[in-house]
Amino acid sequence: MYSSKIAGVGFYVPETVVTNSDLEKYMDTSDAWITERSGIKERRFFTEGKDTVAKMGAKASAIALERAGLAPQDIDFIIFATLSPDYNFPGSGVLLQRELPFREIGALDVRTQCTGFIYGLSIADQFIKTGMYQNILVVGSEIQSNVFEMSTRGRDFAVLFGDGAGAVVVQRSDNPQKRILSTHLHSEGKYAEDLILEHPGSNLKDRMSVKLIEEGKHLPFMRGNAVFKHAVSRFPEVILESLEANQLTLQDIDMLIPHQANLRISKAVQDKLGLPDEKVYNNIQKYGNTTAATIPICLAELWEAGRLKDGDLVCLAAFGSGFTWASALIRW
Ligand code: UT7
Repeated sequence: MYSSKIAGVGFYVPETVVTNSDLEKYMDTSDAWITERSGIKERRFFTEGKDTVAKMGAKASAIALERAGLAPQDIDFIIFATLSPDYNFPGSGVLLQRELPFREIGALDVRTQCTGFIYGLSIADQFIKTGMYQNILVVGSEIQSNVFEMSTRGRDFAVLFGDGAGAVVVQRSDNPQKRILSTHLHSEGKYAEDLILEHPGSNLKDRMSVKLIEEGKHLPFMRGNAVFKHAVSRFPEVILESLEANQLTLQDIDMLIPHQANLRISKAVQDKLGLPDEKVYNNIQKYGNTTAATIPICLAELWEAGRLKDGDLVCLAAFGSGFTWASALIRW
């Protein structure tokens, strides 16, 4: 059986920086509240006419491809994770396929929100393990700044979420010391409505109506406390599951990259596991929660800073809407 490794990483964030103080102009919030409750100081907002989810994914992909020493023609399959696709259909994977000179390869969209990147990585790993493909692009890209209202009604989301994209090339590995060791995927659909963007959906005869808009039903909804509570227990659980599956311990981890949902969640997880600061990477301060893009953006930043070394044990973990949660353990 083959195994797979991450051969290249890249990220792109839109140029417009929106600070907490900027948000104060539109809603009843404050820099102090946002910083204390989430750790976020600023985030990026996309530029209409320039940034799209697919184009941002393409920019991140081009960097990942160059770092892997590959051309777009070398890629065998695209996996695109997003909760904010350019269109309801077709998916953003095919829109990425036309952005770069790829061959007429398969393009799959993944719809598991915050865990989308790890689900995508897991799918890529399986396709490579079976020998079906050699080089797979896994992308997470989101435009979320236009889904919430810049108002007090929309502040739950407005203060937390941002726009951005990250991409990795997953490649067949001949080196048993350099590979994805395992991935672990979970869901519990009974909490689907605790973090949801319900309308327009296919359940109503009128998918969209003035009434729905007036009631704010076209806006995302989150039971923040419930999400928080589940996250701080599921993160450690799925991290420990990955270690156990590989007969490794917490002491073996060189770098934990938690999905960037809230700095308080990351810190709580870190405390529960007893990991030192230098072994847990957070960048939510700069970008907010970019959902499927947080983990590949972190990976790319760490790589650029020379903080991912051959042989390092890297753990990725995520929790979010669904609920879904997931982890991946990588021997870098
Ligand atoms: O990727 C996964 C997706 N999401 C998450 O993981 C988010 C998980 N949840 C969270 O991060 C937190 O629950 C939040 C950051 C969303 C909220 O933090 P919290 O500590 O749970 O605050 P809260 O909702 O309990 O609200 C505390 C207070 C309330 O006022 P009172 O009732 O104490 O007077 C809110 O009305 O803060 C008020 N509040 C705000 N104030 C200023 C709520 N949102 C805001 C805001 N700005 N944006």
